[in-house]
Amino acid sequence: RPRLRESFTGRTAFIVVAVGSAVGLGNIWRFPYVTYENGGGAFLIPYLVALLTAGLPILLFDYAIGYRFRGSPPLAFKRLHPKAEAIGWFQVGICFLIAIYYAAIVAWAAMYTWFSLTQAWGDDAAGFFFGEYLQYDEGGTAGTGISVDFVAQVGWPLIVVWLILLAALAAGVRKGITRISLIGLPVLLLMFVLLVGYSLTLEGAVDGLNALFTPEWSALSDPTVWIQAYGQIFFSLSVGFGIMITYASYLKKRSNASGSGLVVGFSNSSFELLAAIGVFAALGFLAAGAPLDEVAESGLGLAFIAFPTIIAEAPASALLGVLFFGSLAIAGLTSLISIMEVVVSSVKDKTGWSRPLAVAVAGGSAAVVSVTLIGGVSGLTILDVVDAFSNNIGIVSAALVAVFLVTWVFRRMDVLAEGLNAYGSFRVGPVWKALIGVVLPVVLGYLLILDVQDKVQNGYEGYDSWVLGTFGWGALALMLVLAVGMSLLRWNTSSAMHLENP
Ligand code: PHE
Ligand code: NA
Repeated sequence: RPRLRESFTGRTAFIVVAVGSAVGLGNIWRFPYVTYENGGGAFLIPYLVALLTAGLPILLFDYAIGYRFRGSPPLAFKRLHPKAEAIGWFQVGICFLIAIYYAAIVAWAAMYTWFSLTQAWGDDAAGFFFGEYLQYDEGGTAGTGISVDFVAQVGWPLIVVWLILLAALAAGVRKGITRISLIGLPVLLLMFVLLVGYSLTLEGAVDGLNALFTPEWSALSDPTVWIQAYGQIFFSLSVGFGIMITYASYLKKRSNASGSGLVVGFSNSSFELLAAIGVFAALGFLAAGAPLDEVAESGLGLAFIAFPTIIAEAPASALLGVLFFGSLAIAGLTSLISIMEVVVSSVKDKTGWSRPLAVAVAGGSAAVVSVTLIGGVSGLTILDVVDAFSNNIGIVSAALVAVFLVTWVFRRMDVLAEGLNAYGSFRVGPVWKALIGVVLPVVLGYLLILDVQDKVQNGYEGYDSWVLGTFGWGALALMLVLAVGMSLLRWNTSSAMHLENP
């Protein structure tokens, strides 16, 4: 009984879903402060260079793999080369780790949308966030250890986010994933345009924009600025760890994958710029003439401390709060669904299980881990550590291994280029192959070495080494072992591997 792979209804659906994945927390809270801290207007140069030399080429690389070999990462890599399956499972592992904490941020944003109506934080946004809301006990930092004591107002919303997510995943590519993005993305865009328009009318908006965009040219000679640019592009485009491979595997056989890729890449960057303008206009209002350094130093601080303070002081507070946190929650949800679809689709491909069963087993276990670890009093510590390791070391090493092996060991770049060019409006050729095979391994290798060195020597944010060893290094090592283990298991004879040929 030949079963066909699920597919998107068409090009528009694919683009909307892929943009829904790309546009997320990275655009709204990460890009603005990273830009501010790394040279302001001058940062746009490394950013564009990173977009053109790494972001778009890897985006096309991911698309090429998913589209040509028509499978979730383990299946697509297995078809690319019989020995390559473990690469795919490692990417699945990274997605699993990211989903665990990303879901929590979506849940917080949803709760803060609600809190905005009454400005529950009063005039102490920081105290409210850490104390009253998260009930945060700084487990690990002061040697007090990690605790999983459940915090109801954090844990229950997190459970609800997981239920919505698993229901959408179980409904499938068209009825679940596509539908959420088709509704979510336009709503998000509308809310965000309103938010930016509103922020620009606030007093001090111009000062905020000046602080953001005034170029500091000396930043261009600082290597860490370039590292930040590449890191931002990777995270923001969701490339290198299976998401775009999975989505592209649901393209119909004759699709313009390369053209869609460029649309997705440029839409994501446009949204990022728009977000930076909105966020800094509002920060200018908050600072009221004072320097912005303190309010703009981290993503979490920006979203859950600086913004609530702005909201409390601005005219039409509740509206501003709903627009900001509502956008954050929606943008996060459409990204989260793409992360978990990688896990679900991979399990489904390998085992031949039905979609609901794969969702229940793979999604259910991610949900349990997420609620247990992040829904408790030490959630913030675990979130911070898992994020720092999976997002930098994890993503970069997964991408490095993939581009290097596919080019130099498995030698499949020609096949990938042919696949893209068959129906693609944008033709890839020697420049693309050189970027993937030569430039990227060098850049990624360099980034990885610096990051590993830094974490080995300096630890991270002062957390206890056993905390880093468990939730950072340990989690990554576990994913590596699982990846190899999974790749050694036999493919079920009724699985996608046997049912359909690319
Ligand atoms: N690309 C998303 C963003 O910019 C984040 C993301 C990260 C999405 C990891 C999926 C996976 O926020
Ligand atoms: Na993004």
